[in-house]
Amino acid sequence: MRILAIDTSCDDTCIAVVATGNNCTSSVDNPKLRFKILSNIVSSQVKIHRKYGGVVPGLAKREHQKNLVPVLKKNLKKIKNLKRKTSSREINASEDIILENLFKKEGAFYQVMRDFFRRYKKPNVDLIAVTQGPGLEPALWSGINFAKAISYFWQIPIIPVNHIEAHILANLISRSQISLRCQSCGAATSIKCQIFPAICLVVSGGHTELILMKDYGEYKLLGETRDDAAGECLDKTAKILGLSYPGGPEIEKLTKKGEDVFALPRPMIHSKDYDFSFSGLKTAVLYLTKKIPTKKLKNYRLRANIAASIQQAVIDVLISKTIKAAKEHKIKTILLGGGVVANSELKKQFKKRLKQECPLSIIHYPATKLCTDNAAMIGVSGYFNFLQGKLRSWQKIRARANLKI
Ligand code: KG4
Ligand code: ZN
Repeated sequence: MRILAIDTSCDDTCIAVVATGNNCTSSVDNPKLRFKILSNIVSSQVKIHRKYGGVVPGLAKREHQKNLVPVLKKNLKKIKNLKRKTSSREINASEDIILENLFKKEGAFYQVMRDFFRRYKKPNVDLIAVTQGPGLEPALWSGINFAKAISYFWQIPIIPVNHIEAHILANLISRSQISLRCQSCGAATSIKCQIFPAICLVVSGGHTELILMKDYGEYKLLGETRDDAAGECLDKTAKILGLSYPGGPEIEKLTKKGEDVFALPRPMIHSKDYDFSFSGLKTAVLYLTKKIPTKKLKNYRLRANIAASIQQAVIDVLISKTIKAAKEHKIKTILLGGGVVANSELKKQFKKRLKQECPLSIIHYPATKLCTDNAAMIGVSGYFNFLQGKLRSWQKIRARANLKI
């Protein structure tokens, strides 16, 4: 099965084509289940949003509308499936009404979509997966309407996907990490036997969530951030240090020359629940930098020390809470996902602490480029939704900015 996947939940226009491997169309409990990324393209808007220090939803929507057709064409070219019609067929009146309704007040996008369907043939794709939430509502709608038009014109079934679940299931793409052999007898077993129950930590620019996963599609939200997400905290504190957006990777770069010497708070690290709070850390960084004379703050080493202290405070909270949940729920694995997992120090320290405190548990995380937003993970998630019978008619799919797992 070939899945065309689309994600426009935030500021990246992401489209991918994912294939499920041989002999695996019918069950998630199949040791032979494999995913192959045929193409995975992310068109970043970061340069546009950088001057505002964060993502501007209206701008993100406009950019998605500009990028979606070119990014789709690139994907289809990559899989050698961008085929022009021999003669361009006119769009009939009822098709035009559908297009007009989907792209109301979006004149330019409507015209581009119209031309696209006149000129290009349906590619060899069996399913469309599209993010319905959570995310920025205007941005979500651009991807959803685009997916709906494709589903209608090319008669391809469509399935909605939860972006948070997709960050978790991104772990199944690099299956070489996940042993499919029984650890005691060596026989082939399903990933289900190897993974669950699992604790999932999803940390991105918009989310910090701890989730207990008992099976595919069976999730319990244990805790989440009460204010800023971990990635948001890194982005905002990076801005205070004069670094560019997105701040997480900039902070990580700077920490290489710094040390964790400033005693910054680790909010809620010892709280009894699994919630998080990062806005206090941001405020502490603001106060700290206000106490330092501007001239001194230009010192690279000093800023590197602040960056290292911020990163360590975030890492300490994330690891402590996750391990606490892992112990309480006696889990087999920890699954990490989301942009902040691109951070190598976080992964390094996670492995070390897990070895010390939960030696029987195993940690998995996606390849770095599958931690940050991408559509390959949407394709994988769409496939699981398909196996669970979650196909929807395109008319019924709506953006759900606050969708929960
Ligand atoms: O998952 P993602 O690409 O988009 C959202 O769904 O939000 O995550 C983006 C977040 C940003 O806050 C960014 O600063 C952070 O992930 N991030 C990192 C790193 N790379 C991206 N944070 C820490 N270290 C990194 N290397
Ligand atoms: Zn994300």
